[in-house]
Amino acid sequence: MFVRFALSAKLHFSREITPEAVEAIETAVQEANRQLFRRGTPSGAPEEQIGRITRWQVNASALALDIESGPFTRAHDALFRFRKHIAQVLGRYRLGVREISIAAFRITMPGPIPDEAIPKLPFIRQVRRQDGAVELDLLFSASDLEGRVPDRLVRLIEEKKEALTYGGKAEHWELIYESEQRPRVYAGDPTQEMIERGWIRHGASRGQWIFAPQAVHLFRAFEAIVMDHVIRPLGFSEMVFPKLVPWEVWMRSGHAKGVYPEIYYVCTPKTRDPAYWEDIGDYFKVTGVVPVEEIRKRIDGPIGGMCYAQCPPFWPFVQGETLANSCLPIRVFDRSGTSHRYESGGIHGIERVDEFHRIEVLWLGTAEQTIAIADELHEAYRHIFDDILELEWRSAKVTPWFMAQEGLVGESADAAIGTRDYEAVLPYSGTWLEFQNVSVNGDKYPKGFNVKIQSGAECWSGCSGIGLERWTAAFLAQKGFDTSDWPETVAKLAGEPQEIFTFL
Ligand code: SER
Ligand code: ZN
Repeated sequence: MFVRFALSAKLHFSREITPEAVEAIETAVQEANRQLFRRGTPSGAPEEQIGRITRWQVNASALALDIESGPFTRAHDALFRFRKHIAQVLGRYRLGVREISIAAFRITMPGPIPDEAIPKLPFIRQVRRQDGAVELDLLFSASDLEGRVPDRLVRLIEEKKEALTYGGKAEHWELIYESEQRPRVYAGDPTQEMIERGWIRHGASRGQWIFAPQAVHLFRAFEAIVMDHVIRPLGFSEMVFPKLVPWEVWMRSGHAKGVYPEIYYVCTPKTRDPAYWEDIGDYFKVTGVVPVEEIRKRIDGPIGGMCYAQCPPFWPFVQGETLANSCLPIRVFDRSGTSHRYESGGIHGIERVDEFHRIEVLWLGTAEQTIAIADELHEAYRHIFDDILELEWRSAKVTPWFMAQEGLVGESADAAIGTRDYEAVLPYSGTWLEFQNVSVNGDKYPKGFNVKIQSGAECWSGCSGIGLERWTAAFLAQKGFDTSDWPETVAKLAGEPQEIFTFL
């Protein structure tokens, strides 16, 4: 049992095919079936698994072909190989290939394949089940075939089938380090108390907070600790990454495979001509209502979304480049703005929000350099959480974030590649909160954005997201609001909470 491809196509020539040319086609077809299609196939591959032209017919200026194959020299590959060959042969008769049209394309996959494994895609016209196999009738253009869409479709169905069969494959979680336990000095939910104390208030948008000076002082204290103990000693330089991420970036980062339910989408006006928009403003002036449905008709896009993972929009800076050995490893970070995720029902306090603030640390170099920097970071973070913040925390190897964000579970095949989550216990709920991560992302990003290293060594990268809301939630949940209970460095950096609003 093996996957089968069958297609009917027509090669349209520049003019009527002459009888001499028909003879040349006959020979070319035989040669193709005997030799051309065998090229590159495993030796000993059974004949029925290799592409072959099973029927051909000339009608005026068109050559109709039926091609069938198993997994080797797949029907669509055979078609383009043959086109190249026949173009040479018929060139002698001053006949050129003008166009290829695809009349039918069928993929037969051996079963059992559950219905849910068959994607709902516009070019799947019919799905039939036959002797345990699945037959797909497909509507493809020649450029779909040239772009290898059939191969990706087969792979997708296999992946979906596998995910369904091994659906139990769990989110990976493997304990790496556990700190000592710390005395419990506070049992409240810090978000509640921050609200009561006037440190934060809900923003107008969902999952969004407005942070007052007291909270921001704490953010800045944490930032200062990160600067003093991570960024400066390890030599990271500040950059500013874009916060609007177009599809071009997410196509290369892999987010385009599955991040849709969580994106904050971004649209652009069809025109910036004020006259085009005047009535929209007028409508609001008169009614006090923003005519959202009407606006929807006058915008283009979405062109992408707001920053989601923070590091992907860095990559166009190095895209297509070869990096000199002498500049490696590159170490940078960004703290220039927010990340946004549509969290639906999951919003909780300041821990799980739609809009959050994070310092994103990013590095790239050879595999050895990338792994070494991740180790340096782990050591620096351990020092901060054990000795400076005095937290009760642990770290665990988890499903890599870049896999999770594509909708995958499990682990990377390479043990050196992966994400380590840092978690802190929240005494008020007894649960653990992931407050930052460190990842070795392997060659995923350099490959996706076509970045190379002068020496020819494989380019790898890593990143680490430091969540300021999460640090705050973890710290306050464990240390409470009495600054005399706080570790000295934090108390000194944050200063006494400053009240600047008086509400009557
Ligand atoms: N880019 C990584 C993530 O989104 C680290 O911030 O988890
Ligand atoms: Zn990242």
